[in-house]
Amino acid sequence: MTAATGTPTVAVLGTGIMGAGMARSLLRNQIPVRAWNRTASRAQPLAADGALVAGSVTEAVSGADVVLTMLYDGDAVLDVMTEAAPACSPSAIWLQSATIGLAATTQAAALAETAGLRLLDAPALGTKQPAEQGKLVMLAGGPGSLLAELRPVLDAISTRTVHAGELPGQGTALKLACNAWIASITAAAAQSLTLASGLAVEPRLFLEAISGGASDCAYVHLKGGQMLAGEFDPAFALDGVSKDLGLITEAADRAGADTTLLAALSQVYRVASERGYGSQDMAAVIRAFDAGLIGGPSS
Ligand SMILES: NC(=O)c1ccc[n+]([C@@H]2O[C@H](COP(=O)([O-])OP(=O)(O)OC[C@H]3O[C@@H](n4cnc5c(N)ncnc54)[C@H](OP(=O)(O)O)[C@@H]3O)[C@@H](O)[C@H]2O)c1
Repeated sequence: MTAATGTPTVAVLGTGIMGAGMARSLLRNQIPVRAWNRTASRAQPLAADGALVAGSVTEAVSGADVVLTMLYDGDAVLDVMTEAAPACSPSAIWLQSATIGLAATTQAAALAETAGLRLLDAPALGTKQPAEQGKLVMLAGGPGSLLAELRPVLDAISTRTVHAGELPGQGTALKLACNAWIASITAAAAQSLTLASGLAVEPRLFLEAISGGASDCAYVHLKGGQMLAGEFDPAFALDGVSKDLGLITEAADRAGADTTLLAALSQVYRVASERGYGSQDMAAVIRAFDAGLIGGPSS
């Protein structure tokens, strides 16, 4: 903390789509950021926003009060934090916000305990734009006292925090339930748009028909609009959804919940990826249904 203000310094490990946006939101709120990314060129632009761009993980975390991990998956988070932990300050808090699933969160909790770090399991709900705007919703599993200590950081990156429980893993469990919903409604929008088009109805009329009714939802207009335009600039990459569906299926198996719908979802996102859309936005799942009928070169 800067002695004068009590403002924490945050090391942001992983400045991809989400991490870069979160780092900018912290900086806008006068919270000092030490940024690190495996591919250094992706962190470099943050220097213009006032971040200290570190050349190594250990340089990024040394002296930081909070270590925010926003890396791709559990392996990346555990590898990077194994390297970072010895260089962390003994009082540092590890704010783990990537979507890594239950098993990796258990491993993260063990790593934190061994290293003497305090862990808040706090995956983020929201995509690129909310990350840039500081309007994420954080889903936290961990002691309420940690949430209170992290308040300035959480306030800078989010509009609210849902406290799912006192234990690491509870934030992640809620995140998996939320992402099952997001993967479902996006695929469902793709299905309805394709169906309308295949039945010779103007597909945008599907969005017009549900607009303002009980089955309406802002996300369907966001992703449906991208599908109609055939614009798949990634806010959440399609292969990331497949990664999450794997974690969700694992969790559902653990809970003894039926996985029939999850299996179908995994299949459609996999097909779109096999058709070359893995690094495009998840809205490109429509390519599993129509192979280019809507928003494609022929429309
Ligand atoms: N995008 C969304 O809408 C969204 C929303 C909520 C949560 N999330 C979750 O947030 C996390 C980050 O997502 P994102 O969309 O920001 O993804 P992204 O743009 O692909 O960024 C992934 C980050 O992970 C790093 N990385 C990957 N493998 C690594 C490894 N083995 N070692 C070190 N670094 C590694 C990447 O580094 P390089 O640049 O070097 O590849 C990059 O910094 C994921 O867990 C995702 O599921 C995403």
